[in-house]
Amino acid sequence: MVSVLSQRQLEFRQPERLMDGSPVLLRPITPEDKQALLDFHARQSTQTRFFRYHYSKGELTAADLRNFCEIDFDNSLALVVEMERNHRKEIVGVGRFYRLPTSIHTAEVAFVVQDSEQRKGIGTMLLKYLAKLAWDRDIYFFTGEVLRENGRILSIFTKSDPEMHYTDEDDHTCIVTLSIREIMDRVL
Ligand SMILES: CC(C)(COP(=O)(O)OP(=O)(O)OC[C@H]1O[C@@H](n2cnc3c(N)ncnc32)[C@H](O)[C@@H]1OP(=O)(O)O)[C@@H](O)C(=O)NCCC(=O)NCCS
Repeated sequence: MVSVLSQRQLEFRQPERLMDGSPVLLRPITPEDKQALLDFHARQSTQTRFFRYHYSKGELTAADLRNFCEIDFDNSLALVVEMERNHRKEIVGVGRFYRLPTSIHTAEVAFVVQDSEQRKGIGTMLLKYLAKLAWDRDIYFFTGEVLRENGRILSIFTKSDPEMHYTDEDDHTCIVTLSIREIMDRVL
């Protein structure tokens, strides 16, 4: 069941330009995106998949596709970044958050950007719009489990909230928590 707020935001469309000038469109994910998401995942390098899932994830399963594409837009929301290539639209980035059932003002956040389009501003763009959409849902903190060797995302998070809370989970992973107010003040 999709609420009125979520129904309105399903219409969210945000045209943007990457740092190299390429036009892209940010929009909510839909159940019709399953094949495009499968293709997007198949294009990712082993390292990109490892940084996103923390293991060498193979193909997305039917259950993954349902979980990723069939969401309520209240407690769970995902945006895709779409680019036109050879007259076809392709997904080149996905960012999502899930509200924590145990802490309703906090959501777990995750991103993945296609290797060929990394370092062009997509990750930062996704964080900015996800922050705005989360704030509208009374979510005030983003949290994430990040591999400590993943300097790229840690750098983006630190720039977005220099006061970010960071704790080591084990030898390889850390848990970060960012204030959405800070993100909105800095990157919006
Ligand atoms: C981590 C990841 C999502 C980052 O996405 P990205 O699109 O490459 O990131 P951006 O292009 O936004 O940021 C790269 C750099 O450009 C900078 N940048 C972004 N937009 C900018 C702009 N408009 N002007 C100037 N600089 C900008 C960022 O600050 C960042 O700088 P830094 O590396 O010095 O910190 C991507 O590398 C990825 O998918 N990695 C694999 C999966 C993963 O690690 N996911 C995160 C775990 S949840």
